[in-house]
Amino acid sequence: MSNTNTSQGRKVQPKSSAAEGLRELFVDELKDIVYAERALLKALPKMANNATESKLKMAIEDHIAVTEGQVQRLEQIFEILGESSRGKKCDAMEGLIKEGESILEETEPGPVRDAGIISASQKIEHYEIASYGTLSAFANTLGETEIVELLEATLAEEKEADSLLTESAYNSINWEAAEEDQQ
Ligand SMILES: [Fe+2]
Ligand SMILES: [Fe+2]
Repeated sequence: MSNTNTSQGRKVQPKSSAAEGLRELFVDELKDIVYAERALLKALPKMANNATESKLKMAIEDHIAVTEGQVQRLEQIFEILGESSRGKKCDAMEGLIKEGESILEETEPGPVRDAGIISASQKIEHYEIASYGTLSAFANTLGETEIVELLEATLAEEKEADSLLTESAYNSINWEAAEEDQQ
């Protein structure tokens, strides 16, 4: 049975500023991800400072530099499109960052906190991977080949960051964190 007539399933009335076509939706989502990257730039130093294992610390510090480059790439994209690079609040990234901060409070420093930092960071990377994948597909449909290349470069970096995190989790940190259970 359809529930489209109940209040929960009702059709949403669009705002007056609602996107009418793919190009507008594309620009809106670019504003979301540029906000997300800038928010992340502010949050990453705290993650790096709270990590214990030097490889993990370095990986996060590296990702700060990489993220700065990603923001620049996005600014370049806005320039190509002739749009302002002002971000639009990204609730998802705000939530993911908040979760990362509460993991710090909920873990003892050392391998257990490191495992928590990896968990929070991978959720963030996956949000970024999904965002850039979609944006690249949109740009492709819109025939914006130069922009596709820029987005794909960032997408590759996010995937690389994600697999580095997976590697450190599987190779050492999770095992060390599990050993803490026995103490
Ligand atoms: Fe990023
Ligand atoms: Fe990232």
